[in-house]
Amino acid sequence: MAKGWNNQSNTRSRARGAKVRVKTARGRKPSSTRWLQRQLNDPYVAEAQRLGYRSRAAFKLAEIDDRYQILKGATRVVDLGCAPGGWTQVLTQRLPETTQIIGIDLQEVEPIAGAKMWVLDFLSEGAEEELMAELNGPADIVLSDMANSATGHRKTDQMRTMALCEAALDFAIKVLAEGGTFVAKVLQGGADNDLMRRLQTHFSSVKHLKPPSSRADSKEWFVVAQGFRHAKSARADEAADDNAE
Ligand SMILES: C[S@@+](CC[C@H](N)C(=O)[O-])C[C@H]1O[C@@H](n2cnc3c(N)ncnc32)[C@H](O)[C@@H]1O
Repeated sequence: MAKGWNNQSNTRSRARGAKVRVKTARGRKPSSTRWLQRQLNDPYVAEAQRLGYRSRAAFKLAEIDDRYQILKGATRVVDLGCAPGGWTQVLTQRLPETTQIIGIDLQEVEPIAGAKMWVLDFLSEGAEEELMAELNGPADIVLSDMANSATGHRKTDQMRTMALCEAALDFAIKVLAEGGTFVAKVLQGGADNDLMRRLQTHFSSVKHLKPPSSRADSKEWFVVAQGFRHAKSARADEAADDNAE
């Protein structure tokens, strides 16, 4: 568990290290039984409940911040794919009240004091403009934990995750302030070559990591790009436009 987090479980069985076994039940699918068993035996789930986090995902952002100090000094933050709100909770805890925090998701999110969140499909027409209109100025951080529900078809899931990541990067390039940070979920193996090239053009530092709280059997990784380079981005965009003509 990440440094700085209390990793003592609050359940008796977890405290003794005993594994909770879930019996199969009539009408419950084997996959649901497996999910339930995993939840009950996951120390991060227990810890998230104890600390009042809406999702165990909260620990991932906390761990990324502990490692790279991405939140330091941020005045405007965008949280893409924010439901049920774990990352947003970490943002409101770690950032001053004056920081503008806005989040969107396909699903409705229970309000969190200090953040504005609304239902919006990031891939829908006009979504970027809506977000930009809401921002008081250039953003310091664009976060994307967006993920589609898995289809089980590896290639399809990979393509959909990368499409979300690329769309988030396009948006970040439009709204980030000089020196800004972009964090996004990618899949095992990290950003593909094209995405990596783009990240390296627009940011001075690009890192991949799998936070300790990310499940070992999950294919998710995160890309952390810091030091957004405005002028270099503008030149890269111009060159791309010239090539397209
Ligand atoms: C892993 S969850 C995010 C968890 C969140 N970071 C937290 O800490 O609670 C992924 C979210 O991405 C959202 N999502 C997927 N596609 C999206 C899209 N096109 N626009 C907005 N949100 C999207 C899903 O609805 C889902 O709630």
